[in-house]
Amino acid sequence: MSIQISDKFTKNISSPETCKAVSETLTALAHSAIEISHLCALGPLQSGFGALAGSENSDGDAQKALDVRTDEIITAALMNAPVAYYASEEQDDIMTLDSGKPLAVASDPLDGSSNIDTNVSIGTIFSIFPAATTAHDSFFRKGSEQLVGGFFVYGPQTSLVITSGKGTELYVLDRTDNVFKLAIAKIVISKDANEYAINASNFQSWYPPIRNYIEDCQMGAAGPLQKKQNMRWIGSLVADANRILMRGGIFLYPSDTRPGYGDGRLRLLYEANPVAFIIEQAGGMATDGENRILDKPLNTLHERVPFVFGSTHPVSQVKTYF
Ligand code: AHG
Ligand code: MN
Ligand code: MN
Repeated sequence: MSIQISDKFTKNISSPETCKAVSETLTALAHSAIEISHLCALGPLQSGFGALAGSENSDGDAQKALDVRTDEIITAALMNAPVAYYASEEQDDIMTLDSGKPLAVASDPLDGSSNIDTNVSIGTIFSIFPAATTAHDSFFRKGSEQLVGGFFVYGPQTSLVITSGKGTELYVLDRTDNVFKLAIAKIVISKDANEYAINASNFQSWYPPIRNYIEDCQMGAAGPLQKKQNMRWIGSLVADANRILMRGGIFLYPSDTRPGYGDGRLRLLYEANPVAFIIEQAGGMATDGENRILDKPLNTLHERVPFVFGSTHPVSQVKTYF
């Protein structure tokens, strides 16, 4: 056993067969996360750590050796789980593992891989859907149809944030017995906060709504938002999301005018959808700036989406700038 899943989490999944399949899949993912966290913790003691793999993923990002390795670990684990289809950031197309199985899993095997060699938190993001009759239909649907959204963080703690649609829970890996144990049964994001997260180096490329909003944040107490705000940007979505879950705030990765950034940077299927599900279930909000992320149908497997999430007050405020 690698995770002590709470009764509340499983109770929300109505069919006993699906519930069993989800538990087995989470156990497989938790095993993978334990292995990945060991690799991350070894850092440069491991030869080739943080090195480029010499290839690109489907979205044109340079793959690092650890991106490829984590994808292999997760693929191998899911092959022994009740999973029919696997969609990964690191693979061009959907993989069919066993079309007779009940679930479909999408994943960003290693989020924040540009941070691998800097010893800050990185993670694994995943989303579980019921398998549909085809591989395509299993993923080309709205995020509101997810059974489970989750992410692991490999940081000072190795943790798992997860929802099945009845609140958001936090599990922490206890290294004494290598088991993820429930640490917070119900995460609640504060309605308001004085902290924003954005890659401000893209200021020149932002469209007016985001530019105006961030300018108003920077004006502090003297500006229209009438409060002094702090800025934080880790550059690993999982780490920024985890901070917001713990103490509120807003995260923005908007669309901008740079070539290739017309829909921002983050991918709908395996980054925005699971994080949006987790944030909403913790009482926060997740939009593309204006509209709810979980209502967006998927058009292409690696589709990008502008992403704004966090405490409800600032996320609603951003909408008014559009
Ligand atoms: P990945 O490493 O899976 O490609 O994801 C990195 C993402 C996300 O974690 C982070 O928020 C964002 O990219 C940072 O992008 P910039 O370097 O453009 O700021
Ligand atoms: Mn990512
Ligand atoms: Mn990644």
